[in-house]
Amino acid sequence: MTKSFVVKGNILYCEEMGKIKTEPNGYIVCIDGISKGVFSDIPEEYKDLELYDYTDKLIIPGLIDLHIHAPQFHQRGTGMDMELLDWLNKRTFKQESQFEDLEFADKAYTIFVDAMKKSATTRASMFATRHRPATLLLMEKLEESGLFSYVGKLNMDRHCPDYLCETPEESVSETIRWVKECGKFERTKPIITPRFIPSCTDETMMNLGKIAREYNVPAQSHVSENLSEIKWVSELCPNSRFYGDAYNNFGLFGGDVKTIMAHCVWSCDEELEMMKNQGVFIAHSPQSNTNVSSGIAPIRRYIDMGLKVGLASDVAGGSSESIMRAMVDAVQVSKLRWRLVDQALPCLTIPEVFYMATKGGGEFFGKVGSFEQGYEFDAVVLDDSLIPCPIEMSLEDRLERMIYISDDRHIKAKFVFGEKLI
Ligand code: GUN
Ligand code: FE
Repeated sequence: MTKSFVVKGNILYCEEMGKIKTEPNGYIVCIDGISKGVFSDIPEEYKDLELYDYTDKLIIPGLIDLHIHAPQFHQRGTGMDMELLDWLNKRTFKQESQFEDLEFADKAYTIFVDAMKKSATTRASMFATRHRPATLLLMEKLEESGLFSYVGKLNMDRHCPDYLCETPEESVSETIRWVKECGKFERTKPIITPRFIPSCTDETMMNLGKIAREYNVPAQSHVSENLSEIKWVSELCPNSRFYGDAYNNFGLFGGDVKTIMAHCVWSCDEELEMMKNQGVFIAHSPQSNTNVSSGIAPIRRYIDMGLKVGLASDVAGGSSESIMRAMVDAVQVSKLRWRLVDQALPCLTIPEVFYMATKGGGEFFGKVGSFEQGYEFDAVVLDDSLIPCPIEMSLEDRLERMIYISDDRHIKAKFVFGEKLI
């Protein structure tokens, strides 16, 4: 539980987009959960601190998942032969309705939190279901796990099956009650979560905008994910200029309400301009965009525009919760996009997706996702000697190899805000 110590190992992290800094068998000093920086030798004043010696192992910042659906965890890898709206209507809504039952929720969320704890993810922004009690149960388990998270009780009061649909009054009163109940958590924070525009009435959206401001809570949702969804939104909201404008009309699109929007596969220029001006974080979910046939987001363009982009698993649209896998998927789909769609947009590189998975998404949580001085100390130690290799490799190659082929078995240690979880 000690929060002041030194760790030693091969350190890899980003300070800026697309550049990986390395310190071979260097040291990171952590004081009260905060990094004092990366050093080639332990500074004199810190020589007496406890040392975690991971000589020859790889030490990277904890990975950030900007968008994951906790109740869909056990749905991973099933029902994948459908496009988004069918997938929601035929599978996901029914599946999520089970979280009315707290005994079921307890079982499902125990499995989910256990998996998150064992993974390389240290922080995540999550969707729960529309059920307040089950959402609180998930938050209790996350708080106990030591991970940091934002968790959203969903709002859904239209265009969903009766068994899952809230009334506008219930949607708002349950949200206020839930936000108040979240005050007891330290590492687990509420985030206002209208599921997506088709699921929420104007009345509820307006009230959610008010709640976000009154209680100073951030927001998250889905935007411009899939073509049939976007067409539906344009019919539902004839007065919105584009999908994101429908959130913006209720003050739920960045600005004074810190916001994550998942997907942005088909965002128009105006939507992108608004996201840039209002500091909206984009949660890029390449595996989900492939699984539910949404498309390939032009992330190269968003990076060049200076938008804030992080990575996301979007379980269970994404069938893997691994952000290592999300990095690989992001690179791979960008290659297909370059080859098949638009050769003006070069593919993403490993240093770029590594930045997105760490400091890019980490910014949503504050000074998170790097080992620079002043950053909250989240780290994952990887033991790549478990995958034997007959040649000497550079640290950059060793990291790339781990991103492509490692799994949770290669995680030797994991720290979140200076606390050792593994
Ligand atoms: N849009 C609305 N709900 C969902 C969901 O659960 N997953 C994804 N990928 N998109 C959505
Ligand atoms: Fe999603």
